[in-house]
Amino acid sequence: MTERQRHRIGVIPGDGIGPEVVAEALAVADAAGAELELIHYDLGGDRYLKTGEVLPDSVVEEWNSLDAILLGAVGHPEVAPGILERGLLLKARFELDLYVNLRPVKLIPGAPTPLRDSGPDEIDMVVVRENTEGIYAGAGGVLRQGTPNEVATQESLNTRMGAERCIRYAFGVASRRRKHLTMVHKTNVLTHAGGLWMRTFEEVGEEFPDVERAYNHVDATCLYLVDSPQRYDVIVTENLFGDIVTDLGAAIAGNLGFAASGNINPERDAPSIFEPVHGSAPDIAGKGLANPIATVLSAAMMFDFLGDTSVGDAMERAVAEALPDLGIDPTGAMSKSTSEAGRLIAAKAAEIVTGGAQ
Ligand code: NAD
Ligand code: IPM
Ligand code: MN
Repeated sequence: MTERQRHRIGVIPGDGIGPEVVAEALAVADAAGAELELIHYDLGGDRYLKTGEVLPDSVVEEWNSLDAILLGAVGHPEVAPGILERGLLLKARFELDLYVNLRPVKLIPGAPTPLRDSGPDEIDMVVVRENTEGIYAGAGGVLRQGTPNEVATQESLNTRMGAERCIRYAFGVASRRRKHLTMVHKTNVLTHAGGLWMRTFEEVGEEFPDVERAYNHVDATCLYLVDSPQRYDVIVTENLFGDIVTDLGAAIAGNLGFAASGNINPERDAPSIFEPVHGSAPDIAGKGLANPIATVLSAAMMFDFLGDTSVGDAMERAVAEALPDLGIDPTGAMSKSTSEAGRLIAAKAAEIVTGGAQ
């Protein structure tokens, strides 16, 4: 047997259901044979409420020594919207230049979908979301706040460099899959940003003659994701549209409890962050109702990215094999608790690893 890779992983459980699902993902990783050195960070709402700190620069500095980061979710009912989301999550994505947000939309056999006639063969795509620009950049401001003449601007920043590097990455992903890439935007209205994206898409596409190109407006994409998801292999899109279509993607492929993601720095000059698509779900936090699969699959993506594909594959297989035992109903709710589900998936992972070693 080859020697196991050892990974130095930062862990940010965060808020709400974050700590519940991260604990299970780590248990499954352990059962799948991962060799980990874990560095825990107590970032999130509780730390902010106690100390006023969100993401100190010294912590970001420290992350240079990590191989990757596993994050649960942030967002706290007692903290004003934006403080943690912008101050922690977006700051991390921007400072580490995690310019690709990779979000698979894949229906695992046995997972529920509200789409009557769609099965696993039809829902298997990857969304490549630009992760550092667009309306998320934070440009804009408020004037005359609280008066009847209040003005708010929130500008979308789009650079040629930013669009190009994301689009080139997406062509690379498509060339390793079914060789079909759809750009999603709103070029009929957002003519400035859309024009830049479209010209870039067409120019970079010339470098990938074997990848077929398509374009859909984002509103039509929402329709097609529901009525003909099989048309998509890889989607590339800007930041906000990517955020929105991937929640819809989650809805058709098992729900948010299944949707994994990676915030990737493709050049690997900073650690990439892997996290479920979902948030801190304060409505179910502390009740043992959270489905840990999205975080387990995000951790599996992390191991694949780190080249430890035997661990990543074992975790993915374990999810698929444990699924029938989790009692998942058509809405995505489980009859097992978060920790029971984690234990069942970990047991499958252990079986797979032992079987594989024979
Ligand atoms: P959410 O994703 O937390 O929840 C949306 C719905 O999905 C809720 O009904 C929730 O109960 C359900 N859900 C989410 N994850 C689930 C899981 N694993 N298992 C079962 N059900 C699950 O989105 P929201 O309610 O809009 O936001 C809550 C907070 O999370 C906000 O503060 C928001 O800013 C934050 N947020 C953070 C992230 C992140 O950390 N990446 C992502 C999205 C939202
Ligand atoms: C996500 C979340 C984040 C986003 C928020 C919490 C900043 O919704 O990861 O999808 O909009 O990117
Ligand atoms: Mn989102």
